Amino acid sequence: SAVDAFAATHLLSPSRNKYHEALEFAYSNSLAKGLPDIASYPAQGKLLSIQVQITRAKNILEVGTLGGYSAIWLASGAGEDVRVTTVEVDPKHKQVAEENIAHAGLSSQISVLLGSGLEVLPELVKEVKAGKREPFDFVFIDADKENNLAYFELALQITKPKTCIYVDNVVRQGKLADEAAAQQDPRVAGTRKLVEAVGSNEKVDAVVIQTVSEKNYDGFLLAVVK
Ligand code: DHB
Ligand code: MG
Repeated sequence: SAVDAFAATHLLSPSRNKYHEALEFAYSNSLAKGLPDIASYPAQGKLLSIQVQITRAKNILEVGTLGGYSAIWLASGAGEDVRVTTVEVDPKHKQVAEENIAHAGLSSQISVLLGSGLEVLPELVKEVKAGKREPFDFVFIDADKENNLAYFELALQITKPKTCIYVDNVVRQGKLADEAAAQQDPRVAGTRKLVEAVGSNEKVDAVVIQTVSEKNYDGFLLAVVK
């Protein structure tokens, strides 16, 4: 936490980010409205923003909106032509996210779709296949971990070569490597299944990166569509 705080003092200062106040508002308003304290943390949001800039992504898909904190980060680094489509199963979370997104002045760039990923992503697949929607060029999967693999495979149907797919919370305090933990926790089982399946999927190249931070020991999977 001390390292995150030191780095944030220098690299995440309010003057360097026009969405600083909006992100702080999104975070505190979400907690005040009773949402769980499981949003991305500032350094992770910045990493997402940098990845969007590197990849020049303009059409971003997020699975798991929560209060919109990460959606604001995803939209923040890439100009007014970036669009974020974010999927949220809980109507209360969607409502708070929309407040937070409006407060950030990003309502025209971020749309929150209500429903589970298992309902909404197949609809997006249909729309992309029918030519009614552009394929996505960056995907952030951060929803119910049991369905990580299903979301990843659906995302693969609506992306294109060089699209990055970032899956949050795959290390789970080291439980990713613990077969016994997978027997007891379906989120660990879902995450192990994801890594196993991605490893045998010729269409993608991927890595798991472990992280320590103010938000725990965890990590992410980053894949690129070949
Ligand atoms: C949980 C979910 C997350 O996406 C996260 O980043 C941290 C925790 C959770 O469900 O506990
Ligand atoms: Mg997460």
